[in-house]
Amino acid sequence: MVLSPEARNRIKVYVSKWHSHDNTGHDTSHVQRVVANTRVIAESEGADLEKSELAAWLHDIDDPKLTADQAEARKSRNNMLRRLGFSEERITDTEKIIASVSFSNGENVVSLEQKVVQDADRLDAIGAIGIARAFSYGAANGQSMDETLRHFEEKLLRVKALLWTDAAKKEAVKRHQFMKAYLMRLDEEMNFGEGEFR
Ligand code: ADP
Ligand code: NI
Repeated sequence: MVLSPEARNRIKVYVSKWHSHDNTGHDTSHVQRVVANTRVIAESEGADLEKSELAAWLHDIDDPKLTADQAEARKSRNNMLRRLGFSEERITDTEKIIASVSFSNGENVVSLEQKVVQDADRLDAIGAIGIARAFSYGAANGQSMDETLRHFEEKLLRVKALLWTDAAKKEAVKRHQFMKAYLMRLDEEMNFGEGEFR
């Protein structure tokens, strides 16, 4: 099953409203990239496209960074799905996938669709886009450059090893290499003038 164009458009409008004015790295463009990643990964892994895409669109609606009231956010999300005619079973299923996406340790991830969406979300934290998001998060939260660089060591350089699916792993290799090259170059430029020209 795939998401109908009509349902996709209505979900997109709902999500855009919910994610407007975000400065925590969870804006609508993040969601759109996670959906795009999800579709590629789901296709390649043979996961259910509708289930995966639905969860991808809605995966950050109840993020505590975006909403003060998580229960209210979930209620609004589920009511929106009801209005679109999704069954209670599909709504519960979507909730389950979303709940597992935010578990950073991968606990509770059992279905293929959970793996697909979690991988899709994690891919958006690495590579060129990952670098952009990390520095914009750092700026929005008044972090020093060193603090943001620590986030690369502690989290972003470890993402590649945490992925489930072959499709995501393959893309992660490229994004990881790019981040490493960027960090080396950054280090050179930050120490520019202290040593020889390289
Ligand atoms: P998720 O998308 O799983 O909710 P987070 O909320 O942890 O992830 O992160 C959202 C974005 O902000 C990611 O791109 C992440 O790398 C970035 N980010 C989170 N914490 C930090 C930090 N301390 N320094 C720099 N970037 C961060
Ligand atoms: Ni996300």
